[in-house]
Amino acid sequence: MGDFDGRRALVTGAGGGIGRAVAIHLAKGGARVACLDLEEAAAQEVAGEIGPGAIAVSADVSDESQVHAAVETTVDAFDGLDVLVNNAGITIIKSFEETSLEEWERTMGINLRSMFLVTQRALPALKASDAGAIVNMASMAAGHFTVPHVAYASSKGGIVAMTRDLAFELAAHGIRVNAVSPGPIATAILGKLTDEQIEQAGLRFLLGRMGRPEDVAEAVGFLASDRAGYITGATLPVTGGAELATRPLRPEDA
Ligand SMILES: NC(=O)c1ccc[n+]([C@@H]2O[C@H](COP(=O)([O-])OP(=O)(O)OC[C@H]3O[C@@H](n4cnc5c(N)ncnc54)[C@H](O)[C@@H]3O)[C@@H](O)[C@H]2O)c1
Repeated sequence: MGDFDGRRALVTGAGGGIGRAVAIHLAKGGARVACLDLEEAAAQEVAGEIGPGAIAVSADVSDESQVHAAVETTVDAFDGLDVLVNNAGITIIKSFEETSLEEWERTMGINLRSMFLVTQRALPALKASDAGAIVNMASMAAGHFTVPHVAYASSKGGIVAMTRDLAFELAAHGIRVNAVSPGPIATAILGKLTDEQIEQAGLRFLLGRMGRPEDVAEAVGFLASDRAGYITGATLPVTGGAELATRPLRPEDA
């Protein structure tokens, strides 16, 4: 028996990277999964890879009407929802001084506003579930300086705070709310970093390798499952220990 037999899940940003791995992981555990992504073709490819039981939904998670339609489509298709994984996110690596207001707002919109929009819209269905679980994608950047991306780090800090407060509020409805905080994971998002930036960030791979999307999917799957039935409000680092070893950083090293 799988952890997610009979469960219905929505994963945002499921068209690639970590979201794709999460969608596949939940499906392997028996869940029906709605793969939501801005890139329609990517969402369809992952849903096709999973096979029957998965659907593709295309939407921009920062757009209210698109989110409403996407959640409606999912809940209608599955006749409910048990697991929500708020994963979609972007990063813009720039110093604070160089960051434009448009870039700040785009980052906040896709990384944080999206969590408000998707979670609030999904709430009635999650409340009706007897296994409601939300897992939000934070980042090691919420707690540690890594590279210059103040907007990204701020959005991820907001996700950690939101996860904690939502856990408090939604416990009464039997919904658990947790987050995972990945360190550097080998996906397209990280491809934006140069080797020099990785080196300057002092990132260390204590376990001898960079993280994989599947490493994060395992943690998300655990937190979304009944095996984490007594865990709520937590943010679980999935960093390979990268944040344990820091070196003194001066602003000019960044
Ligand atoms: N890769 C890392 O090192 C790392 C580390 C910490 C946290 N994270 C977080 O993990 C999450 C996934 O990142 P990833 O590394 O898999 O990135 P990725 O770029 O490989 O995948 C992100 C997915 O989200 C989709 N997406 C982007 N904007 C969207 C929007 N407006 N609406 C809907 N979908 C949208 C993209 O099309 C893509 O399929 C992000 O929240 C990211 O901040 C990643």
